[in-house]
Amino acid sequence: MRWIVTGAAGMLGRDLTDVLDRAGHDVRPLGRSDLDITDPAAVARAITDVDVVVNCAAYTAVDAAEDDEQAAFRLNAVGPQLLARAAAATGARTVQVSTDYVFDGGASDPYAADVPVDPASAYGRTKAAGEWAVRAEDPRALVVRTAWLYGAGGPCFPRTMARLAAERDSLAVVTDQVGQPTWTRDLAELIVRLVEADAAPGTYHGTSSGQVSWHGFTRLIVESVGKDPAMVGETTAAAFQARAPRPAFSVLDHGTVEAAGVEPIGDWAERWRAAAAEVLGG
Ligand SMILES: NC(=O)c1ccc[n+]([C@@H]2O[C@H](COP(=O)([O-])OP(=O)(O)OC[C@H]3O[C@@H](n4cnc5c(N)ncnc54)[C@H](OP(=O)(O)O)[C@@H]3O)[C@@H](O)[C@H]2O)c1
Repeated sequence: MRWIVTGAAGMLGRDLTDVLDRAGHDVRPLGRSDLDITDPAAVARAITDVDVVVNCAAYTAVDAAEDDEQAAFRLNAVGPQLLARAAAATGARTVQVSTDYVFDGGASDPYAADVPVDPASAYGRTKAAGEWAVRAEDPRALVVRTAWLYGAGGPCFPRTMARLAAERDSLAVVTDQVGQPTWTRDLAELIVRLVEADAAPGTYHGTSSGQVSWHGFTRLIVESVGKDPAMVGETTAAAFQARAPRPAFSVLDHGTVEAAGVEPIGDWAERWRAAAAEVLGG
């Protein structure tokens, strides 16, 4: 199968390219300098002779998006639309990576893939628009929502926490946001499994199983670097006064993945233990 990965220099794009390469797929990684996904002519030129186009490019600066929603919309909605249009025209299938931020996080049970979206932030609105645009342009598209990503190929929460744990005697981390920490390598492998299983067009949730707060996750990260988890104190999201609201409950249900006959990603703590050395050493 011939694959194109856009945003290939990003945290997910790097692992996806590597996973495809190692599995012997024909993969064309396109970083931003190879393809600006918001340039219609460049997209039309680049998306040829391909079976699957996975869009890993995105405007991911959640707080900055509040002040420049137009720029975020261009990258998170218009770019994916152009890619999906070009993919469909050439007979390829689009995979659009999306986010838990399409939900407001007010639920208390895991979000099923077909729950109506209700974003509370500019980033979430633009990513939700990207989902709709891709579905409208490519009837065979897969939308794969993920959350709480970490990986060796970019700055991420565990790497920041490991550094802070080395520099300080104590840390204060929020207890009132709950989610599913997810390794970009696991998400990459899930995307490949979904495409190889010829999953029906639709929406899939690509996150680890189980759930934990940022505080609980940090305790495990600190343990991984040989420090005492007791150094991790508690605080609340309100103390940070972030520009964009974050979903308090970011737990996604994996029902559509299972229905496609594809194994979801395993338990978040077990996956962190498998990932820690690579992610913290990266
Ligand atoms: N990180 C998370 O926790 C998280 C959570 C939920 C969902 N997601 C989603 O997962 C996907 C991958 O995220 P990530 O963490 O891997 O993001 P990332 O590391 O920020 O990578 C995004 C990539 O897109 C590139 N890019 C920016 N503008 C572009 C353009 N006009 N054309 C082509 N490429 C462009 C960026 O290049 P530059 O660096 O040069 O700008 C960067 O390499 C995104 O769809 C994101 O919304 C992420």
